[in-house]
Amino acid sequence: MRKINVFDTTLRDGEQSAGVSLNLEEKLEIARQLERLGVDIMEAGFPASSKGDFQSVQQIARTIKNSSITGLARAVQSDIDTAWEALKDSAEPRLHVFIASSPIHMQYKLNMTPDQLVERAVQSVKHAASKFPHVQFSAEDASRAELPFLARLVEETIQAGATVINLPDTVGFTTPHEIGKMFAYMKEHVPSIDKVVLSTHNHNDLGMAVANSLAAIQNGAGQVECTVNGIGERAGNAALEEIAVALNIRKDYYKADTGLTLKEIKRTSSLVSKLANMPVPGNKAVVGANAFAHESGIHQDGMLKNKETYEIITPELVGVHESSMVLGKHSGRHAFKEKLTELGFAGDATQFQQIFDAFKDLCDKKKEVTEDDLFALMTETMTDAIQESYELQTVQVNYGTNNIPTATVTMKLPSGEMAQEAATGSGSVEAIYNTLERIIEGPVSLEDYRIQSVNGGGDALAEVYVQVKYAGFESSGRGTAHDVLEASAKAYINAVNRTLIRKAYEQEQTNKVNI
Ligand code: KIV
Ligand code: ZN
Repeated sequence: MRKINVFDTTLRDGEQSAGVSLNLEEKLEIARQLERLGVDIMEAGFPASSKGDFQSVQQIARTIKNSSITGLARAVQSDIDTAWEALKDSAEPRLHVFIASSPIHMQYKLNMTPDQLVERAVQSVKHAASKFPHVQFSAEDASRAELPFLARLVEETIQAGATVINLPDTVGFTTPHEIGKMFAYMKEHVPSIDKVVLSTHNHNDLGMAVANSLAAIQNGAGQVECTVNGIGERAGNAALEEIAVALNIRKDYYKADTGLTLKEIKRTSSLVSKLANMPVPGNKAVVGANAFAHESGIHQDGMLKNKETYEIITPELVGVHESSMVLGKHSGRHAFKEKLTELGFAGDATQFQQIFDAFKDLCDKKKEVTEDDLFALMTETMTDAIQESYELQTVQVNYGTNNIPTATVTMKLPSGEMAQEAATGSGSVEAIYNTLERIIEGPVSLEDYRIQSVNGGGDALAEVYVQVKYAGFESSGRGTAHDVLEASAKAYINAVNRTLIRKAYEQEQTNKVNI
């Protein structure tokens, strides 16, 4: 079995998804879960792009011990120096430096000749290698580069000190056959190719990111770059869970494996989906709600006779199990703490108490508290470190089929003062949102609203996801509560609070860089 290194870029390329903006606590939570999953390398961000990114890369580099942490840098000395400052405390500092390699990018984006580009790449890799023990060089848009030029660029960057060479399909243009040929070409035409690990990084514009990644692995890639749930720029990146499970289930064919702890996949997917506010479609391979549901009579019959008739992946393999009652009203703190630890709790005494209080509160309203409920409460508490922001105190709605819905909301303002307002709307949620808009002194425009239950059952917890435009930003927010209206109010306030944080960062930022 060949070992394929997993380079997870959920926190960098994944965070570049439209509408996704993770705060520091959320990034740390995801990083801890990725460590539990066992990814080899974690791309924590792009340190030179903003103060916020710098801080989160630095914090993750200082916290995570069992995965190598990397950060992105353009082929610019100052980016590399900033990345070093963010990453130098990590167990195994690693830099990811990139520059474009296709004619269209060289001519229109960079305005450089091929010789100038090679020179810049070589100087950058040399500079990076003088600081970092591991340097990955990425030839952006490699799938549209000319192969002889790409081979020259790769050879010269290896000579300059690169230890990993990544050949990305930046725009999701290539096909499995073509990417296979590109990797095979490098193997054949780059004299020093055996000194480095070859990496593949694929976008999903034509829906082929996972297939392309697998084809690259078959043709010599020893590292695969991917994101949880396939989130990322435009149509996203190759989905980590699909690649890992494909290699595992078809090891007879690929003869390669990632070594990930596959039973952590479902939890990792749920966490990223919640924190990125990007629900997973029901039919999504490996982690969708229907991925293990057998609907047709013929299939159900076959499953009863022998599961292998229709089931190629067992739910247990990826950590999907029946959500059962775990704890109840009479459970003590000790048992509760043990369960939370099992779920990956890494918080302090105050956070523990908050989750315990929320759990006791939920026990009064819900017959059975499941592991999924606890996970939702834990995620909400662990990542809700928003200071100085709006805080919901009470919400009340008058609704009747013949009345105009009216909401009354009491809220703590960032100044610490209390505010109370009332407003009407064409429905209960709109009445709440109109009231909140008055308190916040909008305008806030609601762009999207989605609701789902944590588990089935009439007493399930509700999770609401919203997208709002406020103060010149588009932000997402989520809220979990036993009542759908309370969850709706919380989601809206969460989105507004996130906007305020982003605005504050933006004002502080000195050198925001877009890639
Ligand atoms: O898609 C891409 O080319 C990238 C690079 C920065 C590696 O994300
Ligand atoms: Zn990318």
